[in-house]
Amino acid sequence: MTDRYKIVNTLFNYIITVLQAGITSKDLRLALEPEAASIYCKELIVNHEENSQSSELSVLREGSKFMVVDMGGGTVDVTVRQVVEERKLKELNVATGGPWGGSKVNNNFMAFMCTLLSQEVWNKFCSDYMSEKLELEREFERKKRYIALDSDNRILIKLPSAVREVFKEITKKDLNNAVAIEGGYQGKVEMKRDKLKLDPKLFQSFFDDSLNSIVKHLKKLLKVIETDTFFLVGGFAESPLVCETIRKTFPGKRIVSHDDAGLCVLKGAVLYGHNPKIVTARVCKYTYGTEAMRYFINGYDPDEQKVTIDGQPFCKIFVKHAEMGQTVSIEDTSKCELEAVSATMTVMTIPVFVSTEKNPVYTSIPSCRLLGKVRVAMPDISGGINRKVIVNITFGESELMFEAINAKSGEKVSASYDLLGENDPENKNS
Ligand SMILES: Nc1ncnc2c1ncn2[C@@H]1O[C@H](COP(=O)(O)OP(=O)(O)OP(=O)(O)O)[C@@H](O)[C@H]1O
Ligand SMILES: [Mg+2]
Repeated sequence: MTDRYKIVNTLFNYIITVLQAGITSKDLRLALEPEAASIYCKELIVNHEENSQSSELSVLREGSKFMVVDMGGGTVDVTVRQVVEERKLKELNVATGGPWGGSKVNNNFMAFMCTLLSQEVWNKFCSDYMSEKLELEREFERKKRYIALDSDNRILIKLPSAVREVFKEITKKDLNNAVAIEGGYQGKVEMKRDKLKLDPKLFQSFFDDSLNSIVKHLKKLLKVIETDTFFLVGGFAESPLVCETIRKTFPGKRIVSHDDAGLCVLKGAVLYGHNPKIVTARVCKYTYGTEAMRYFINGYDPDEQKVTIDGQPFCKIFVKHAEMGQTVSIEDTSKCELEAVSATMTVMTIPVFVSTEKNPVYTSIPSCRLLGKVRVAMPDISGGINRKVIVNITFGESELMFEAINAKSGEKVSASYDLLGENDPENKNS
């Protein structure tokens, strides 16, 4: 099982628990993290603006674009939104980002400890003293929260006594004497009783990987989308070092951070729950379409795409309804007509597909994945192949609503597909 699959599984188990607790599915709404963050940011009381001495209330006005940088533990997700009429939000790009969240800093500290103590000592400590390792992680987590760009005092980290014991057992040396002269950190690290004293620059360097990647990504995004306002949210945005580095790197921008940065997503999700219509448009993360048959064209279509029906050569093509990167308004409908491929067919099966390509031609290519199938009864075969089914696809809050109508009888079949989790094409190999 991939981590992503585990997360989706956990989420669905959680939803089942909520439903079992008596909350009906109509009262349950999934909020997308970056969307929830944007909703909160739009309403945010800005009291930490740079260059502003006063605590002023500033709500973004219609037309303004803003970037929300959600810095969590695992990932950093960046989205750009625009405030449209009636203070609603339009998504201008799909969330982008990477695994540059706060846990990368913790991982760098652990890697440093491994270099400092030697692989052998570190491995033994981690495997034989798990609760002490947890204690060390907690200690680092506490110290990590206070480091700023201008910190010049050495940072003290209390080491569990097991570290010293394992070090002695394996190296036959005393840790307090050894760290000052070994491990390549002379002058930057020393031991005082049970505490490791770290040079602030060394401590800040644990943030380098994350900060460099975040800054690089923001610079890249700014080349494509112009915006003057950055909202920094997520737990990692509570770090003074993180906020100060971003402020220093983008001096002309309005960087808004908040004491409660870690709660912005939660608060935004509550606002969204009260008013889902606050989101008017989303950018499609994938290309959505249906599968249809068309005559096989010799010399144009690859041979492996040929399917023979009633002695006629066909191929299965992807009929696009919405393209990856395209902005679709919530409740927008895309329409198309599909014709019977055989004069005697009494049921039309319409497969619904997603693709990670903008313009997939055939449905059997690796970028495409079947979401599900809708079957429309066509018992009256009097029209032969001149019988039609009208397909309407509506983009809802978090679902793709699919409606197929038999053009002659008016009979309707509908289905909906979750766009947030299980049907995500990224999970197809899980
Ligand atoms: N004051 C702080 N200084 C530095 N880091 C902090 C601070 N407060 C929280 N963090 C870090 O923020 C991270 C957690 O943030 P958050 O709760 O937003 O993550 P998440 O939403 O659970 O993760 P993800 O969005 O990646 O799924 C942790 O890595 C934590 O160490
Ligand atoms: Mg998060």
